[in-house]
Amino acid sequence: MVEASASTERLTVVLGITGGIAAYKAVGVARAFVLAGHDVHIVATEGALRFVGRPTLEAISRNPVHTDLYEGVAEVRHVALGQSADLIVVAPATAHTLASLAAGLAGDLLGTTILASTAPLVVAPAMHTEMWQNLATQANIATLRSRGVTIVGPADGQLTGSDSGPGRMVEPEALVSAALGVLAPRDLAGRSILISAGGTREPLDPVRFLGNRSSGRQGVALATAARDRGADVVLVAAHLEMAPPDGITVVPVGTTEQLRDAMLQQAAVADTVIMAAAVADFRPLAVAEGKIKKDAVGDELVLTLERTPDVLTEISAARRDGQRIVGFAAETEPDPVRLVEIATEKARRKGVDLLVLNHVGWEHGFGAVTNSVIMIDRTGTVVGKADGDKLSVAHRILDHLR
Ligand code: CTP
Repeated sequence: MVEASASTERLTVVLGITGGIAAYKAVGVARAFVLAGHDVHIVATEGALRFVGRPTLEAISRNPVHTDLYEGVAEVRHVALGQSADLIVVAPATAHTLASLAAGLAGDLLGTTILASTAPLVVAPAMHTEMWQNLATQANIATLRSRGVTIVGPADGQLTGSDSGPGRMVEPEALVSAALGVLAPRDLAGRSILISAGGTREPLDPVRFLGNRSSGRQGVALATAARDRGADVVLVAAHLEMAPPDGITVVPVGTTEQLRDAMLQQAAVADTVIMAAAVADFRPLAVAEGKIKKDAVGDELVLTLERTPDVLTEISAARRDGQRIVGFAAETEPDPVRLVEIATEKARRKGVDLLVLNHVGWEHGFGAVTNSVIMIDRTGTVVGKADGDKLSVAHRILDHLR
């Protein structure tokens, strides 16, 4: 077993799949773990294999799927899988599975694997609302929680039939993020971290705006990683393209002015500020009351823009004692030496402790799932580099803020 960490180490993940219709979502869970670089071993019950085919699971997990307690006896497979696991995830977990886990039953390969393991156990229940709310199920959930099992979901929404309510299995990416979070060190416990994410939009008229291509993905990854490492997180969110994580405070904003107000207010109580949002540098000098009409404008529309306040500079000017401030720099400069020079100058000008330099262009940077950054301190020294999925990059940035 590897040490619990937030690093990019390749983890051995045992994915237990049990017999519910949500078993189809387990394919997405396996896929997300594999794409994040982990080694996935699926233990599927007979019931699970009635919902999803073994070839699908083997192709996606890139490993044989295990089902039978009486296979691989010579290699003591019924305990070996559990002993080798860094993390066990059961998704979906049926009401029957929850009862078996709570009772500690070991009548199938999943049961023996879990009992033989000391790895963290994460369970994603999926069932009809009535079954979820049944006192027997709730008692089983309470028992599992009291033993340190992490229960993720269920979500509230459309169920298999026409009914809806609590009982849907959470979406694969959210489950994988929560499961990996269980292994993160709690080295930011007691810290209050303020993060801005997304891109601000400046209205031109009631239906149009000037905006940018930021998806908010890197800022959301920072919020997720900081939460997982025990920090209290406030996320000032401008037009995110994805849902922010649970367990943090989200302050939605639209314009640069709104982002500025929210950031200055929250920065007054945060011990760390990370300014990952792509903030509009200019905004229309005047916002039209009604929709701008073509016929009234003619063939050319000339916009006059004014500078917006530099939020990061204002935050560092009002820096609290001991407060750590992190800025981002999105640059398109092609020459690597000149790129670092520009970033260093920006770090000094903005008074940040750490500047995360992001090389952006038409093809890379904004909206991508991966990122590649260089970290520079206020003296212009390159203190680190990070490459990979945005959650791993987030962890590497946070390593500099411990
Ligand atoms: N930033 C800010 N307020 C602004 C503009 C940018 O707080 N009005 C912050 C960004 O969130 C980022 C850092 O400043 O953390 C650098 O942003 P960047 O766009 O790279 O630099 P700019 O200051 O906008 O300079 P330029 O676009 O001219 O390179």
